[in-house]
Amino acid sequence: MHSGKLITFEGLDGCGKSTQLEKINNWLIQQGCEVLKTKEPGGTRIGQQIRHILLNPEHKELNPESELLLYLSDRIQHLKETILPAKAQGKMVLCDRFHDSTVVYQGYGRGIDLRSIESIISYSIKPYLPDLTFLLTIPPETVAHRLDQRDEQFVKDRLDMESQDFFERAANGYHELASAEPERFVCLNGEQEVEVIHQQIIAVIQQRFEIGFKS
Ligand code: TMP
Repeated sequence: MHSGKLITFEGLDGCGKSTQLEKINNWLIQQGCEVLKTKEPGGTRIGQQIRHILLNPEHKELNPESELLLYLSDRIQHLKETILPAKAQGKMVLCDRFHDSTVVYQGYGRGIDLRSIESIISYSIKPYLPDLTFLLTIPPETVAHRLDQRDEQFVKDRLDMESQDFFERAANGYHELASAEPERFVCLNGEQEVEVIHQQIIAVIQQRFEIGFKS
């Protein structure tokens, strides 16, 4: 049995990370791995309720610091209830967004002091940092266009409606985080074909975790 790993997928809205997460989930299962596919916010029953508060487009009055603490509450519940038990069982945990999203969206995007975010993260999240993070990069100016291209059932959430400036600050935040932790982050150009990105992700996972060498 492989020891459990936490692999997170990050990037601006519409970057294609959820598609890639689904594909690598299927590939890992084919390789015989036990996998947990999950997401933030909303990876637990309680988290689903927090997600509703956070993303409801009608909640325009939500204070940035309340928003920050709700994302962190969701994460702590998710870690303790779901992620850590799954890792302890040897599962590969694939998580659509994790703490980097908070630093980037609430810190760089909203402008909340990075040190105060860091102080909360350092005691509650840092002991459980991801083993690997895939960052799919797209130009911030394409976010709105990519979200508009989604199918008719897709409804924009509160964060999807943010300005291009917000996504520019967030893109810069991702860039800085990835530069500071080059071992953990693997940056992939999210404008490539879906299948090309998928093969790049497989190659990294094979190399890091020695999975998938059977024919
Ligand atoms: P999703 O669309 O990828 O499910 O994510 C929901 C939105 O929440 C997305 O716009 C990014 C945002 N978000 C934050 O602002 N901070 C966070 O900590 C997380 C996990 C997500």
